[in-house]
Amino acid sequence: MREALRVLRHLQEANGLELEFVDFDWGAEKFLREGVTLPQDALEMLSAKFDAILAGAFGDPRVPSNKHAEDILLGMRRGLDLYINLRPVRLLNDRLTPLRDRKTDDIDFVVFRENTEGPYCGAGGFLKYGTDDEIALQDEVNTRCGVERIIVAAFEYARANERKRVTMADKSNVQRFGGDLWQRVFKEVAAGYPEITANHQYVDAMAVFMVLDPAQYDVIVSNNLFGDILTDLGAAIQGGLGLAASGNIHPGKVSLFEPVHGSAPPLAGKGIANPIGSILTSAMMLEYLGFQMLSKEIEEAVRAAISANETTRDLGGQLSTEQAGMAVTARLKDKAKK
Ligand code: IPM
Ligand code: MN
Repeated sequence: MREALRVLRHLQEANGLELEFVDFDWGAEKFLREGVTLPQDALEMLSAKFDAILAGAFGDPRVPSNKHAEDILLGMRRGLDLYINLRPVRLLNDRLTPLRDRKTDDIDFVVFRENTEGPYCGAGGFLKYGTDDEIALQDEVNTRCGVERIIVAAFEYARANERKRVTMADKSNVQRFGGDLWQRVFKEVAAGYPEITANHQYVDAMAVFMVLDPAQYDVIVSNNLFGDILTDLGAAIQGGLGLAASGNIHPGKVSLFEPVHGSAPPLAGKGIANPIGSILTSAMMLEYLGFQMLSKEIEEAVRAAISANETTRDLGGQLSTEQAGMAVTARLKDKAKK
């Protein structure tokens, strides 16, 4: 996050980017100190006073229950009704993918993950808790409105960005009710976009094809849980979790931007974590806020830094987290001089 802020602050100084930052210390530290996760009235305050939220990764071995992450991250996603989890999967340099013979053109798609429903709604319960006959019920919510708006968002994105194909992943061969709803809504919505090919795959098959033939994908739409899993696979084929960016979006409302990766406790404090996921996330945020040009410039600077091998070790470079952030900033500086 420090490196993402370095890039944004540089753009403030060099390009007059008008952004006002307010820091919040929500996280494990505050939870352990004060017992507070998402402060009272936080959601109202965010909606009323802010345009975007840039969040670091949540997760701390001192909080094994992950309660703070659940309250803060899932709390904001649900509480602010951020129904689109937009996760681009894009190979920035041929050498980064673990897939043999794949080039940058082969891996370039976006995933629309439903972000407020599915098993993430926390519904369910135990019967005969702690006994040998125990039953754990884990419910999954699929609302007509929730399914429709994420599928519409995927098609709208495809139309606006001249993407030719939207592929929906589900498990409707087993999840008869939720799957049936997704299937019906997908067909209905697709009919309104005759220029876009509507395609369906079972999610297990998609896991195979994402590895064997990633070039077939333009836009993928799926539910919250499958989207979660597929986007980790997507991160892997684009070079690793250290590169993956995401936006939790409700168009027109305050939206939340966070790298896909977790907090990676084994890397903490060593200066070796890859800052690119966070930096590209800040670029997504700028795009959302209407600064398309600056967003593109960040992406280009990242691409250039990777081409020059100015990266952390996970990508084959030699740099520390800070040096890798500075390498991207330096590329932006070069640009400003030209
Ligand atoms: C993600 C994460 C979260 C999720 C966890 C931390 C709750 O894996 O953003 O992908 O499952 O959505
Ligand atoms: Mn995840």
